[in-house]
Amino acid sequence: MSIVAPSILSADFGRLGEEIAAVETAGADWIHIDVMDGHFVPNLTIGPPVVRAIRPYSRLPFDCHLMIEEPERFIPEFAQAGADIITVHVEASPHLHRTVYQIKNLGKKSGVSLNPATPLGLIETILPDLDLLLIMTVNPGFGGQTLISSMLEKIAAARRLIDERAPHVLLEVDGGITVQNAGTVVAKGAQILVAGATIFTSNDYRSTIEALKSVG
Ligand code: DX5
Ligand code: ZN
Repeated sequence: MSIVAPSILSADFGRLGEEIAAVETAGADWIHIDVMDGHFVPNLTIGPPVVRAIRPYSRLPFDCHLMIEEPERFIPEFAQAGADIITVHVEASPHLHRTVYQIKNLGKKSGVSLNPATPLGLIETILPDLDLLLIMTVNPGFGGQTLISSMLEKIAAARRLIDERAPHVLLEVDGGITVQNAGTVVAKGAQILVAGATIFTSNDYRSTIEALKSVG
């Protein structure tokens, strides 16, 4: 069974608390929160006050995906607001080792993400220090995009690298995950499926989440 993490980017922002409670009831495992700063990606979304406001609506782990420049400035606030997993982008973190340990020293799980064009080799050295590796399967910034098919081989390569060097690291994929392609993504080695539009535009959150989970 895969871990399914609904991305609230595609939820109804006017009813975020209810939406989170609804996906928890429907069987979600984690809540994926997309944080965008208008610089690293061309969109603006959620900051620590919103994370704090929605924290009481769910007991599931909050998986905070920081698509922001200088993430180290905001990591303590996200940790305090209720994040459980904090993922930063390798492209936005020149001192990645320091940033990863900043997250760990706050008692949170530490993740690193790679944009589609960023080679896997960049995280080889830091991999054993991570809790989670996030392979982006779209260019980050917006929900509802189509999975870039060349990322399937990157997922498989990440699986091999994790198996060889750091089997404790969880492999997460994010962007364009559908009920149709989830099986392929899981077969390549992904353990955590982030899905925004697929879940939140469906009429029945439960059956969609079940369909995503069962492909694993
Ligand atoms: C992309 C975000 C994703 C995205 C996923 O910038 O990091 O989490 O919202 O949404 P879907 O599943 O709709 O591609
Ligand atoms: Zn994301």
